[in-house]
Order: sequence, then structure tokens, then C-alpha cells
Amino acid sequence: MAIRKHLCLIVSLFLLIPRSLATETVVKAGYWFPASEFPVSDINSTLFTHLFCAFAGIDPQTNQVNISSTDRVTFSTFTQTVQQKNPDVKTLLSIGGGSSTLTSEYLASMVSQPASRKIFINSSITRARENGFHGLDLDWDWKYPETTEKMANMGTFFDEWRDSVATESRDSGKPELILTAAVYYSARFNSNTYPINSIERSLDWVNVMAYDFSAPGWSHNYTGPPAALYNPTGPVSTSSGINAWIGNGLSSNKIVLGLPFYGYAWKLLDPKNHIVGAPANGSALSEDGSQTYKQIKEFIGKTGATLVHDAKMVMDYCYIGSTWIGFDDLKTIAAKVTYVKQKGLRGYYGWSVSADDNWALALKASETWDSTPLPSKNAGPTSMQPLEKNINLSISLYFIIIQVVFAFWGNHL
Ligand SMILES: *[C@@H]1O[C@H](CO)[C@@H](O)[C@H](O)[C@H]1NC(C)=O
Ligand SMILES: *[C@@H]1O[C@H](CO)[C@@H](O)[C@H](O)[C@H]1NC(C)=O
Ligand SMILES: *[C@@H]1O[C@H](CO)[C@@H](O)[C@H](O)[C@H]1NC(C)=O
Ligand SMILES: *[C@@H]1O[C@H](CO)[C@@H](O)[C@H](O)[C@H]1NC(C)=O
Ligand SMILES: *[C@@H]1O[C@H](CO)[C@@H](O)[C@H](O)[C@H]1NC(C)=O
Ligand SMILES: *[C@@H]1O[C@H](CO)[C@@H](O)[C@H](O)[C@H]1NC(C)=O
Repeated sequence: MAIRKHLCLIVSLFLLIPRSLATETVVKAGYWFPASEFPVSDINSTLFTHLFCAFAGIDPQTNQVNISSTDRVTFSTFTQTVQQKNPDVKTLLSIGGGSSTLTSEYLASMVSQPASRKIFINSSITRARENGFHGLDLDWDWKYPETTEKMANMGTFFDEWRDSVATESRDSGKPELILTAAVYYSARFNSNTYPINSIERSLDWVNVMAYDFSAPGWSHNYTGPPAALYNPTGPVSTSSGINAWIGNGLSSNKIVLGLPFYGYAWKLLDPKNHIVGAPANGSALSEDGSQTYKQIKEFIGKTGATLVHDAKMVMDYCYIGSTWIGFDDLKTIAAKVTYVKQKGLRGYYGWSVSADDNWALALKASETWDSTPLPSKNAGPTSMQPLEKNINLSISLYFIIIQVVFAFWGNHL
């Protein structure tokens, strides 16, 4: 009797260890979407640990996850295609997304009822498995869940989602699906806080969309920082958002920072005034001013625009004539990834892979991660790396096991 009891304890302690260590893999991710017209086979998947295939929709009639008929072939071969260059890369099917308020309404309605949650969750797992994805990602973007009730319902949804993928994994014998969500840059949207506890216990991590802070669409009359790491003159910045997430109780290793592989172009009112915050008159170069990193590099190459790195805000911009573009160049990407690693965050993702310029940003991000040391150990307990924490945990568990074994041995000698 006693033997069996001790053995059970030992075995269950051993089982805890691999799970706690397995959650600590770095995330170097990127999103891909069909409208970019970028061939999946051209993705240099060696630069990524995870690739998100975006987006599947939700059918409002049935509450089922739906892949549009034009995307079905590409989505169903996505995993196989990206694994040709990197057999270890994991893929996730991203659901929702885009700028459609309708999608947001459908998601709000879906999470509000147990029956529709159940159908959605069941179909999400089915879609993931039948298309060979390793995980699922919910992108409830525009507009974000903007009421207390929607936030709470989303939390319930996350918990049920986790229960279902755990059950499915036990039943199918397949590894449990990864569950993630793309979220607002800050833990609070419209003065409502995200369901932090549900995220902590039920999601593998969140993708924090720390970009689009300024754009000609919402800062028409002044140039602004689209995705600066710091903002000395205002409340909105990447670091303020990350601090809000951590300050509201989310573990740093549940946070993956979004890096924009694009920027925004404004039309300057006075070509001689080209600072951040200079008077402007809306967008340049495209209707909403958005420009991929590749387009920005081409623009600079073609026009000889002056390039400025603002080390204080951590952002880049370039200007020539009446055109001004704010974006993330290599130095900014490197500084952000250094910040991510030193802050103990899980990793980063790029939106989107097709916007990169011959993989310059993805390569810089990956190399920076690999060459950045972990935070120093004497910087206090809050800066302790998750990995270190888990090694500690494992060491503690081994000591407990040894004690149990000896206690058991002692009793029987
Ligand atoms: C893909 O990235 C690797 C670095 O991981 C690099 O060596 C290789 O040249 C890249 N391939 C292409 C086609 O860009
Ligand atoms: C869902 O799929 C059906 C059948 O392919 C299609 O008619 C419908 O438009 C899709 N709904 C959405 C929201 O994509
Ligand atoms: C989804 O529901 C069907 C019908 O009830 C069931 O057979 C199937 O096992 C469910 N799938 C998952 C992944 O839960
Ligand atoms: C921009 O300035 C114009 C006047 O020049 C004004 O009518 C408009 O409201 C301003 N837009 C914003 C977003 O402040
Ligand atoms: C801004 O651009 C619009 C045309 O897009 C023009 O009509 C308007 O006069 C411009 N405003 C200023 C202050 O130059
Ligand atoms: C982790 O282990 C180190 C070395 O054994 C120890 O100094 C530190 O206090 C431990 N931290 C925690 C949180 O257990």
C-alpha cells in the first residue's frame, strides 16, 4: 500500500517536470495571409519557430470556423509546405482578424452562449486537425472586446477551449494543440481589462499587437510614431503596453511582442519640418499610407530619402520632399528584440512575413535573440528568467523525490 502511494507520488512529480520545461520554448513567429499573394513556399521558415496562417472566418449562421473556399487548398497544404525548409516549425490556424466589425460582432455573439462556444470550439479543433495545424489562434481585433461582459465571455471561452483541446489530445493521442490569441497592445481596452487569469491558465501565450499607434488614418495632421518602443511625450508605446500586461498580472513568458514589418507614410505640410510630430496632411504613397518594409527600402533606394534612427523612442523614419515615413528598421528591430529577451518575454512575431525585405528583419530579429544574454541574475527576483525558474522548480522537485525515496527506504529497512 505504502509502496504504491510513494510510487504514485514519484511518478506524478516526474510528470510535472517535462511539462513545465516544455512551455519554455522561444517563439520567433510570423503571420502569413493569402491576400499578400506571397507564395507559402517562399517563406524562409528556418527563421521561425511558429508560423500563423491567417485567417479562417466564423460562419454566423452555424458558429463554425470556416475557411473560405478560395483559401482551402493553400491552408490545407500550409504546414507541409513550410516544413519542407524547417521540419520543426509549428503552424497555427488564425481565426478572425482583419478590420471587419462584423467578425468582431460574430465573435462577441459566439462567446456569449455555451452552445455556440461548444460548436465553435469543436469546429476549430476539427479544422486544425484536418488541415495539419499544430495550434489555433483567435484574433479578435477590430473592434476589440470593448465591454466587461465581452471580456468575461472571452475568458470563459479560453477556459473551455483549453479543456476541449486537452480532452481531444487524450482521446486522439496527438500532442495538445497550441492555443494563442492576438490582443490589443495594452491589457486594458476601453477601460476594460482582458481576462488575465483565463489567459494565464488557458492560453500558451498572447500575441501583443504593439503597432498602429499613429497612422495617417487617425493622426491626420501630424506625423507620429507608428510603433515606438518608448514615448516620452505620451502614454501610448510598446513598453507602456507590455508594462500594463505584466502590471495586470500576466506572466512575462506568456507575452509575445508584435513587430510591424511595415510603416506609414505621411504628406508633410512643410518639407523643411520633418521631425516626429511635424504638421502633416494625411497619407502619402498609398490610400491609408501603409507601406511594407520592402516598399520603404525600395523608396529609400530610389529617392535617396534621409534616414533617421531615433534611439530615444526606438523608431526609424525617413523623409524626402513632402514624404515622411515612420517604420521599424534593423536597429529598431534589434533594440525591440533585446528588450523582449531582457524583459523575460516569450518571444516576438512579425506582421507579416511577406512585408519583409529579403528576410532582413526576420534574420535580424532571430540573430539578436540568439546573441542577447538573459537578464542578469542579481537584478532581483522579478527579472528571473522563466527557464531559470523552471530549472529551480525541477531541482526542487528532484530533492523532494530523493527525500521521499529515502523516507520510504528508511521505513522499510
Ligand atoms: C533563409 O534563412 C537562412 C538563415 O536561417 C539563410 O541562411 C538562408 O540564406 C535564407 N534563405 C533564403 C532563400 O533567403
Ligand atoms: C462558410 O462556408 C460556406 C460554405 O463554403 C460559405 O457559403 C459561407 O459563405 C462561409 N461563411 C463565411 C463567413 O466565410
Ligand atoms: C465534435 O463533435 C462531434 C459530434 O458531436 C464529435 O463526434 C467530435 O468528436 C467532436 N470533435 C471534437 C474535436 O471535439
Ligand atoms: C486636421 O486639421 C483640419 C484643419 O486643418 C481639421 O479640420 C481637422 O479636424 C483636423 N483633423 C484632426 C484629426 O485633428
Ligand atoms: C490637404 O490636402 C487636401 C487634398 O487632399 C487639400 O484639399 C487641402 O487643402 C490640404 N490642406 C492643407 C492645409 O494643405
Ligand atoms: C533558484 O536557485 C538559485 C540557486 O540555487 C537560488 O539562489 C534562488 O534563490 C532560487 N530561486 C527561487 C525562486 O527558488
